[in-house]
This record gives sequence, C-alpha cells and structure tokens, in this order.
Amino acid sequence: MTKQRILSGIQPTGDLHLGNYLGAIRNWVEIQEQYDSYLFMADLHAITVPHDPKALADNTRNVAATYLACGIKLEHATIFVQSHIPAHAELAWMLNCITPLNWLERMIQFKEKAIKQGEDVSVGLLDYPVLQAADILLYEPDQVPVGEDQKQHLELTRDIAQRLNYRFGSEKQPILKIPTPLIRKEGARVMSLADGTKKMSKSDPSELSRISVLDSNDTIATKIKKCKTDPTRGLEFGNPDRPECNNLLTLHMLLSGQTQEAVAAECADMGWGQFKPLLTETTIAALSPIRERYHEILNDPGYLDTVLRDGKEKAETIANATLAKVKQALGFAPMV
Ligand code: AMP
Ligand code: TRP
Repeated sequence: MTKQRILSGIQPTGDLHLGNYLGAIRNWVEIQEQYDSYLFMADLHAITVPHDPKALADNTRNVAATYLACGIKLEHATIFVQSHIPAHAELAWMLNCITPLNWLERMIQFKEKAIKQGEDVSVGLLDYPVLQAADILLYEPDQVPVGEDQKQHLELTRDIAQRLNYRFGSEKQPILKIPTPLIRKEGARVMSLADGTKKMSKSDPSELSRISVLDSNDTIATKIKKCKTDPTRGLEFGNPDRPECNNLLTLHMLLSGQTQEAVAAECADMGWGQFKPLLTETTIAALSPIRERYHEILNDPGYLDTVLRDGKEKAETIANATLAKVKQALGFAPMV
C-alpha cells in the first residue's frame, strides 16, 4: 500500500523558536514513519515583508539543517527549497486569477502584518495565502501539519481548490485534491515568554519573548529566569486568568514528554522559584542534542547541498505533473 502524503513548510526568516518546533516540526518527526513527507523552506514567502538579501540563502540552509537536526529522516522525507521549483510561482499566478480579492482582504494574518508594515504593504503580502495554496495543492497531500495560526490559510486553500474544480473540472474528475489540515491540540499555540496572551513569534522585537531551538544553555537559563510569571503560588493548567502559568507548564509537559496529569501533580504545590530551574533543565535536555546535531550538519556543507539537490528533483516531478494537469484544464496551448 502506498503511504499517505504530508506537506508543510516554514519561512526562512530567522532562527526557529519553540513555537515552530512544538507547533510544527516535532509533529512532523513524530508521524514521519507513517507518511511520505514533503517539507520545504518557504523562501518566496520570506520576501513578502522587507528582507535582507544577504541573509536569505543562509537562513534557508539553516532551516533545512534544523529540520534534520530535529530528527527528520531522509528515508521518509523530501526536503526542498520553494524557489528552486518554478511551478510554485506559476500555479500561484493561475490561482490568483480565480481567487476573489475579498477572500484575501479578510485574512487575519494579512491584517496583522499589514498594520505592522504601515505604508509599505506589498501586493505579495496580500497574495501570500494564494502562494501557500499553490505550495500545498501542487503536491496533492492528504494532510498538512501546521500550527493553529495557519488554520485560516488552509481553509482558504480548500476553498480555492474547490472553486477551480467547480469551474474547470467535473464532479467525477476533480483537478485538484482537497487537503486536510492536521493541527494538534498541544503545542499548536505556544505563547510569548513576555506575555502569555500573545503568540511566540519570530517578529517580536524582544529576544526575551522566545526561546530559539539553537539558543545556548546559558541563554535558555537567562530567558527562563526573566520570563513573565504571576504572584500566585501553586501551578495549574487551564486557568484563563493565568495564561503564563498554562504556557510554561505546557512547555514543560511537551519538552519532557510527560502527560498533563503527571505534570499537574508534579507542579501543583510548586512556586516559581522551584519551577523555573526545572523548566530550564527540561528545555536544555530537549534542545542541546538538537543544537549539537545542527552544528555537525552545517560543518559538512556538501551534505546539505546533496539533500537539497535530491529534494528538488523528487519534489519537482510531482509539482510539474500537477501544474501540467491544471494548465490543460485551463485550456493553455500545449507546447509542441
Ligand atoms: P512561520 O515561522 O510563520 O513560517 O511558521 C512555521 C510553522 O510554525 C507553522 O506551522 C506555524 O503554524 C508554526 N508556528 C509558528 N509560531 C507558532 C507558535 N507560537 N505556536 C505554535 N506553532 C507556531
Ligand atoms: N505560511 C506558513 C507559516 O507561516 C508557511 C507556509 C508556506 C506553509 N507555505 C506553506 C505551511 C504550505 C504549510 C503548507 O507558517
């Protein structure tokens, strides 16, 4: 029996943090044996806000190295660079022409990012979800594992695919496969260390708000020492008045691999002075092996070149086949 396919990606816009790890990569690793995985670096998405051309290539390779360091295995996964496969931009153009403008104007992430950009909002930022729909639909995945913040983009992807199928396909012969989001409850929304009501994010100006997967042990200890807590003694999950408490306990639970019941019992009578060193220890134990593997991988640049070259070849075959199918359905003149 052929395995089901999953597809996902992360923008190479800087070091990955615990939100990216717990919301996305860790899930890819946990399920990789049951699926054929296609994982990419969304570098075309990374230029939808002003970017540094000197850093883009390195960031892209660093994200690939982070996937591998976190435990993605090449026997199960194909890792590739989005911009190496022209079909992404090409399908995005065709999807642009069937996507109503008002579907994009109501995207939450667009609205949030547009506010931050002020006067400088590019057409690309508005169009971001259409490119994401192309990324997904090209590979006909069964599931798309992402964090909670991507839910609306996945719903849009399904709507765009259905619209194209309705206009240009037939019920018996749909052109595009409709993908399903795979969003796990735990870790789907890791919150900022500086404010338990805000998502942990690469674009937060404060480094203290996030722990990078590659942070040194000392940096991890400092960030946890300085993170926001509350004055209440005794720690608990799920109290809406204690968002920091819930977030920090969840991090401890996920990084130590324990159940919620076990952590709730372990920490019920603790104060922050006792809990913070414990969380520091679990975080260091989870991240330091990843950091070591990451540096090993980057010290062998030939290895990463091979991974990305092979990844491109394998991914391109699938992407080009879907693109050809769409072009035919839309009635483009064949190349003779
Ligand atoms: P990005 O860094 O925006 O490219 O996000 C890459 C992946 O990480 C996506 O699957 C996001 O849903 C996930 N992600 C980003 N931030 C968080 C967060 N704070 N909590 C959980 N998942 C997140
Ligand atoms: N927009 C996603 C994010 O910020 C990254 C992404 C781009 C993606 N294309 C994708 C995720 C396709 C899943 C599938 O997290």
